Amino acid sequence: MRTPLVAGNWKMYKLIADAVDTVTALKPLVADAEGVEIVVCPTFTALYATGQALAGSNIALGAQNCYPKDFGAFTGEISPQMLLDAGCTWTIIGHSERRQYFKEDDAFLNEKLRYALAQGLKVMFCIGETLDERQTGAMNAVLERQISKGLAGLSAADFAGVAIAYEPVWAIGTGITATPEQAEEAHEFVRGLLRARFGQAIAEAVRIQYGGSVKPDNAAELIAKPNVDGFLVGGASLKADSFAAIVNAAR
Ligand code: 13P
Repeated sequence: MRTPLVAGNWKMYKLIADAVDTVTALKPLVADAEGVEIVVCPTFTALYATGQALAGSNIALGAQNCYPKDFGAFTGEISPQMLLDAGCTWTIIGHSERRQYFKEDDAFLNEKLRYALAQGLKVMFCIGETLDERQTGAMNAVLERQISKGLAGLSAADFAGVAIAYEPVWAIGTGITATPEQAEEAHEFVRGLLRARFGQAIAEAVRIQYGGSVKPDNAAELIAKPNVDGFLVGGASLKADSFAAIVNAAR
């Protein structure tokens, strides 16, 4: 059995006080949530304070991005080691907003992924097709490319620290959620890609989260699908009560 992984991606929202208030409200709402792993991913400036507020809770701290070096003359970047120092155990890599707005390509994302894992961070690695790619029938080829290039060079041991987040770009922030059937079809396809490349044991163990307009009222039907192993939640993770409802739907 794969333990569901439910993470909140706060994107570029929340000042420090708001981040701390949100997790302070969230903690009691999910304190007895067993059988589910919970992560919140604030913006960099709020990481340390949020981590302090989470101390002793069942909620882990994650970042949204990192750069594949320890230290150096890389103005504006932040390293996995710095994220660990701030209290993170997870980071997101490869979000479609990074791919689209910051032109991060498969090779660079693969470098980040391998670097972060080598430093001891766990990674939610995002993949997903655009609406145009879906409508033109390119979806499977896109997912295959993102998996084969993105996960290239990973060892079996590396997969202990990897979750895949399937986030169809057309469902992100649009209010249009993939139907449970669409999500399951994509997740099953991705698991098949993992099986073909990395073998049955890894394919069965790796969690595949769904992301894209997940809300308290659609979480239960999505998580009921056999290959949906949790969520990466944007907008609905910004409020403690709606994120807690999604966590509780996944337990
Ligand atoms: P929404 O839940 O706001 O659609 O965002 C999804 C997402 O991008 C999570 O990483």
